[in-house]
Amino acid sequence: MLVRLLYASRAVDTSPSALEGILKVAREHNLDHGITGVLIYQGGVFLQALEGGRRAVNDLFGAIQRDRRHKDVELLLFEEIVQRSLCGWAMGLVDVERVNPGTLLRYSDGQGLNPYAVSGRTSLAFIEDLTATAAICGHT
Ligand SMILES: Cc1cc2nc3c(=O)[nH]c(=O)nc-3n(C[C@H](O)[C@H](O)[C@H](O)COP(=O)(O)O)c2cc1C
Repeated sequence: MLVRLLYASRAVDTSPSALEGILKVAREHNLDHGITGVLIYQGGVFLQALEGGRRAVNDLFGAIQRDRRHKDVELLLFEEIVQRSLCGWAMGLVDVERVNPGTLLRYSDGQGLNPYAVSGRTSLAFIEDLTATAAICGHT
């Protein structure tokens, strides 16, 4: 049983080393637990998509909610899926500063990445657009 989960949160420590620390552990853990996904970051806001087995995704989201490196964790979308759409990434990273501004504008109110203000479906469409145009760094 495969599921997809999307959530938003706000970083507590916005330094590049803090982000690298999160990603390093995430990639190792995700490979071991069959989880794939993308972490999008801009201006202190995270948007993350997780795909994998229902049990594994639930357990991980529990750990993520308890993680003190971010706050205001808000569930945006949870759904059963027939197949993964983010299967190439143990945890890809998108630095929104490097995304074509037109792509972001299509899915936002013009004020940058704000998953708190748009629907979960809109955030998912944004992620699918980014993955389709391969605007993902840190493939693995
Ligand atoms: C924004 C953010 C994204 C994260 N993404 C993942 C992830 O994709 N996979 C992962 O294993 N841990 C991720 N973590 C770390 C988890 O919250 C947690 O620290 C890790 O799973 C270890 O949990 P444990 O200490 O309960 O074993 C993320 C943390 C933050 C702050």
